[in-house]
Amino acid sequence: VKRHDALEQLSRDHHQALFQAMRLKRASEEDADIVLADFLDFWFGVGHLHFRAEEEVLLPAYSAYGDASREEVVRVLVDHVEIRREAHALGATKGDPPPERLRALGERLDAHVRHEERVLFPLIEEALPDAELARVARGVDEVEQTGS
Ligand SMILES: [Fe+2]
Repeated sequence: VKRHDALEQLSRDHHQALFQAMRLKRASEEDADIVLADFLDFWFGVGHLHFRAEEEVLLPAYSAYGDASREEVVRVLVDHVEIRREAHALGATKGDPPPERLRALGERLDAHVRHEERVLFPLIEEALPDAELARVARGVDEVEQTGS
């Protein structure tokens, strides 16, 4: 999918997220600990800031032009809450993580990213004027680079 330049950074993060999701979906008793450790590196490095950028910059920008209560948007926010909770819960797990839990998270993350790429981003690209998309890009960079 050709992304508007403004959403390129978020799409780059999505490629990393899809790679993590693929590994989570294939987790077994043998590699669950390593798969989880790699996922948590991604989550605490990039993932949580990516969620924050979407929640604090992207979706508020959309809500000025579209209806934030529409199902396509609400689904993104519910996914964020539940994926964030599961990442933190797994991060606090002592001992080997149950592989079926990692696989369930992988399915969830995979479906979430695909929904954003196929449904949410096209919706936003359609709704926002170019100047607003450019502001979104700067705001996303700011959140992801300062991590604050
Ligand atoms: Fe995303």
